[in-house]
Amino acid sequence: MKDRVQKIWPEIEWIKDEELKSKVTDCWVYAIENSVLSAEDLEKIPFSLLIDDCDITFMNHKRTCVRLSVDIAKTMGENFGSEINMDILIAGAILIDVGKLIEYEIVDGKLGTCRAGKLLRHPFSGVAIADRFGLPVDVQHIIAYHSKEGDLGKRTIESIIVHHADFVSFEPFQDAKRIKV
Ligand SMILES: [Fe+2]
Repeated sequence: MKDRVQKIWPEIEWIKDEELKSKVTDCWVYAIENSVLSAEDLEKIPFSLLIDDCDITFMNHKRTCVRLSVDIAKTMGENFGSEINMDILIAGAILIDVGKLIEYEIVDGKLGTCRAGKLLRHPFSGVAIADRFGLPVDVQHIIAYHSKEGDLGKRTIESIIVHHADFVSFEPFQDAKRIKV
């Protein structure tokens, strides 16, 4: 399974710390092994079940979010001198939606969200997975605070960047958020 995770997530190689890289891989292996979906399915399913006729895949969306996070962090570092831990940022960006893998269910051939996924959304289940494999608290924080649930608290700089990278690659596809002129 590790090789299939490495195939869908080449960005794991961007993490310099070998132990962190290995733990991030372990999280994805565990999530896929406990999911109704396969690694290959993630390259086919829409990234959101909330958007009608969504033709952007889960993996395209998640990999774009990681790339955007890195681009923003590099620009902020160059232009503002911001101190950003790139390994933490990349690991967090790769893991923000790992909990989604155990949110899904397939009923009558249709992909949906299971009861556990409705009661405990993926920021929470994602932290549980990350904690199981000993990911640092800074990475768990990015997972926990990447979504709307995190708006009630304060975020680290890495968490702010990943949160916005995630939303900037989501809101333009939501009719409720975008003005079309
Ligand atoms: Fe998410």
